[in-house]
Amino acid sequence: MSTAWKNWHLSKEGTVEPEVNGLDRLFSGTNAKKILDIGCGAGRHVVYFARKGFEVYGFDGDEETLERAKKLLENENLRADLRVWDMTKQLPYRDAFFDAVLAVRVIHHTRLSNITAIMNEINRLLKTDGFLFLQVPSYESETFDSGTIWAEPGTLIARGGSEKGVPHHFFRKDELLGFFSSYTVIELHSKSDHYVGYCLIAQKGKR
Ligand SMILES: C[S@@+](CC[C@H](N)C(=O)[O-])C[C@H]1O[C@@H](n2cnc3c(N)ncnc32)[C@H](O)[C@@H]1O
Repeated sequence: MSTAWKNWHLSKEGTVEPEVNGLDRLFSGTNAKKILDIGCGAGRHVVYFARKGFEVYGFDGDEETLERAKKLLENENLRADLRVWDMTKQLPYRDAFFDAVLAVRVIHHTRLSNITAIMNEINRLLKTDGFLFLQVPSYESETFDSGTIWAEPGTLIARGGSEKGVPHHFFRKDELLGFFSSYTVIELHSKSDHYVGYCLIAQKGKR
């Protein structure tokens, strides 16, 4: 596991993103049952929704971090379908299987061609009227140093440090919204925590 992620998971254990409490209220006003957490890491949101009685699915590319998620579920006698999977591959679930998809600070860790494929996968997996909760870094709010190496427009590959070799795509607002032109935006705001990013809550379908 990347040291950066390991430290990050440790620092976030037992917390949830503040918006998640609002999602819980949003979901409970509907028949939402099945939730997928893409890049669920050590499972903080998986545990949260499992506690509330949702049917939770999650995957992460890192086996060790998923083991922690499994342990946390086991401690509370909770269940979730967790698997090791790479988000850049076709996702192992049926079309329109989920009522909600979460992807918190994960989708930006690849190149744009993969991001486009992941967004298409999210769209395939979500039911009409299903909910999406995304957090990604924003291009507009970031300051990039002059020595920065861009792998492609908007995507940096860290040249050193604990995230060496890991891509980071920084989203422009219009770029992010462009992926979800057939969705209803419920909320879009910037937030600053670790990096400045966009937080998008949307519902599949226009209304
Ligand atoms: C910053 S953490 C966020 C974890 C979790 N979403 C949360 O909010 O606690 C990023 C996660 O993305 C996962 N990840 C990075 N690249 C991935 C990939 N290609 N496929 C699946 N997971 C990936 C990492 O293993 C890590 O757990």
